[in-house]
Amino acid sequence: MILPIYLYGQPVLRKPTEEIEQTPELKQFIADMYETLTQAEGCGLAAPQVGKPWRLFIVDGSELEEDYPECKGFKKTFVNPELLEESEETCSYSEGCLSLPGISENVVRPVSVKMRYLDENFEEHEETFTGFCARIVQHEYDHLEAHVFTDRISPIRKTFVRNKLAAIAKGKVGARYKYKRQ
Ligand code: NI
Repeated sequence: MILPIYLYGQPVLRKPTEEIEQTPELKQFIADMYETLTQAEGCGLAAPQVGKPWRLFIVDGSELEEDYPECKGFKKTFVNPELLEESEETCSYSEGCLSLPGISENVVRPVSVKMRYLDENFEEHEETFTGFCARIVQHEYDHLEAHVFTDRISPIRKTFVRNKLAAIAKGKVGARYKYKRQ
């Protein structure tokens, strides 16, 4: 089932998230998240973006393999993830977000990060991500911390996107996929 994507301005995007437990319904919810992500042509989706204040996100960078070879087969579910380490070295990439349609801005973040997380079967993993994979994972992890990527852009760029964010929050901007707004 395709879920509506909550746009900027929806309170759930700014709520603290809670750890989740394995339930019979969770498998279907994760399957719905993948279906939602695919139809929206995104590379990552966090549970708050579909209305749930849970510590859960999914990534699918497989379509980006041509530009970012490290994304080959990068399709994973992150349940209750913890950010363990961040590299000192940083880099800048242009980011966008399904909850912020029409906005893309450069964001500086660590080049690599180490995470501990459970997969959809609640098996624990510890893994280091680099390149664009690290970028996707950090962007999605931010959603679990009630952040969106524009929180991290330079003050001058923030001024530039303020009106665009206000327009999304006021319901004046829609998206090409199923969404929920004010
Ligand atoms: Ni996002």
